[in-house]
Amino acid sequence: MSFNTKDNSKLLVLGIESSCDETAASVVRGCREVLSNVIYSQIDLHTIYGGVVPEIASRGHIEKINQVVKSALDEAKVSLKDIDAIAVTYGPGLVGALLVGVAHAKALGWAAGIPVVGVNHIEGHICANYIDNISLEPPFMCLVASGGHSHLVNVEDYGKYEIIARTRDDAAGEAFDKVARAIGLGYPGGPKIDREARNGNPDAISFPRANVRENEYDFSFSGLKSAVLNYLNACNMKGESFDVADVAASFQSAAIDILVGHSMQAAADRGVKKFAIAGGVASNSALRQALENECEKREIEFMKPSPVYCTDNAAMIGVAGSYEYNLGYRSDLTLNAVPNLSIGKREGVSKKS
Ligand code: KG4
Ligand code: ZN
Repeated sequence: MSFNTKDNSKLLVLGIESSCDETAASVVRGCREVLSNVIYSQIDLHTIYGGVVPEIASRGHIEKINQVVKSALDEAKVSLKDIDAIAVTYGPGLVGALLVGVAHAKALGWAAGIPVVGVNHIEGHICANYIDNISLEPPFMCLVASGGHSHLVNVEDYGKYEIIARTRDDAAGEAFDKVARAIGLGYPGGPKIDREARNGNPDAISFPRANVRENEYDFSFSGLKSAVLNYLNACNMKGESFDVADVAASFQSAAIDILVGHSMQAAADRGVKKFAIAGGVASNSALRQALENECEKREIEFMKPSPVYCTDNAAMIGVAGSYEYNLGYRSDLTLNAVPNLSIGKREGVSKKS
């Protein structure tokens, strides 16, 4: 089904996101125009622990969500009575963190008489592409690489997704975070490796690029992560120091080869014309460049969201929720957090009769 976004130019959707360590709210008009995008990052709360602590994340969301939603409405210069629908992330993610957003959305919706629609966080990441690429329409293929997920997805239509590949072990972002911690860069690892790698030699150390036998498109990052840890251990045992920038650059180069190699193979086999990227790792400068180059060689149109729409935000939830709303999907007060929600599946979200 093709979809005419212009018919919905006045639709105002409030997006709410709290699946991990960002409390975020946004107002989106006409499915793709971001009127406000407020993000409260909890990085400072988790840094001393070297990663996200679920209980602290939930408590942090509770403390901030009211203010973040109010700021999003204020910045968009709208009030709750102007809002047509509230879109909220209900999975996948940390259950306690998700529950804060879901409960807040349901309470607001009930009190103000506004329909609520639950949104899949990963589908939200994919929909971030509609913000900066205003003429983008499905079908297209999308690489989603975040802290918890690595997927190749065929976006068949609005609200219709087919998973082509997934990770067999660690997600790409998880590998970035673990390697960053091991080489002393700390949390959050991805952006720090991205920066450090610019000063290093990507060919200094040869790390493995694993393939998965059963599904040639599936990803695996745990072997790469172990190879980095083994290299660091070997250096320690020999009493040798290692070059942080070289390890960062060599690891990043291997991770990018895996992501780009599998993506381009799947795109070629399926005759893909448009390729997009999404999720926190999609803000990696070297990955963006590598995919741009490879797509250009193959005459595939390459789309990427601005970095602020790659990492967790509520604008992408507002966009995904706008399309879900237009397709007729609604959630009632039974909407619950679904921590392991799959792409393309709906639970507690159904078409209105
Ligand atoms: O999508 P996201 O913000 O949250 C999840 O849904 O997981 O992704 C966070 C992940 C983290 O693992 C973080 O280290 C990684 O994205 N990340 C990056 C970069 N910026 C964030 N990885 C590589 N390079 C970056 N520039
Ligand atoms: Zn995310």
